[in-house]
Amino acid sequence: MTQAAFDKEKTVQKMFSSIAHYYDLNNSLLSFGLHHAWKKKTLDLLELHADDKVLDIGSGTADLSILAADHLGGKGFVIATDLNEAMLSIGKKKIDTRKLQNVSVALANAERLPFPDAAFDAVLTGFCMRNVSDLEQALREIHRLLKPGGKMACLDFSTPVFAPFRKMYDFYSFSLLPKIGTWVSRDQTGIYEYLPDSIRKFPNQQNFKKQIETIGFQKTRYQNLAGGIVAIHTGTRP
Ligand SMILES: C[S@@+](CC[C@H](N)C(=O)[O-])C[C@H]1O[C@@H](n2cnc3c(N)ncnc32)[C@H](O)[C@@H]1O
Repeated sequence: MTQAAFDKEKTVQKMFSSIAHYYDLNNSLLSFGLHHAWKKKTLDLLELHADDKVLDIGSGTADLSILAADHLGGKGFVIATDLNEAMLSIGKKKIDTRKLQNVSVALANAERLPFPDAAFDAVLTGFCMRNVSDLEQALREIHRLLKPGGKMACLDFSTPVFAPFRKMYDFYSFSLLPKIGTWVSRDQTGIYEYLPDSIRKFPNQQNFKKQIETIGFQKTRYQNLAGGIVAIHTGTRP
């Protein structure tokens, strides 16, 4: 791991540890509740089957894992993985409260996941790939862990499609969002300044689609939501 990658991982983890208890609240406030619909759409596009083995990478507080378990209807299983103990423990509490028997949690780095090749029928990840230190390596892990024919879905911020809307969105994300997010969570790590910055650095819809194709995914598609503020990319391991 390079020094820059090590520094990024440390900084990102410090930020998520600091805001873990406010993460769900801020997500709902800052997205005007839309993140629930985005996550539901991600599960729809993943097209799970009853007995599937599902991996959620960067699961954080486990919203996507819980939705995946709902889709499985008590069969198969879901493993929620994250590098951050504070985020994962909140996710674990939500899983326990719902008495979901087929969801477990594991502390693990998206770039070095402790599972054998082709272990999963489906892999999903939400708002995590933007945060990893080595995006290509994390994508290679998703590919490695999927069975042939298995499907991945990646939900993350992207680039708004219409230029006038982009300006309004820039104002919101660079000026208002950091103030609201920081105030609500009393954050001192700068995570809500990092957020818009990390979105600008993440590949846009077309470039991310090309990147997952380069890794080896086929049948790649993306769907824009909220005018491209977020996008869901899907792909299949041949
Ligand atoms: C913005 S949160 C998303 C949480 C959840 N997936 C959701 O959609 O609400 C990003 C999560 O990715 C995790 N993360 C960042 N880098 C990671 C890595 N290298 N390996 C595993 N998880 C990572 C963070 O700890 C954090 O919990």
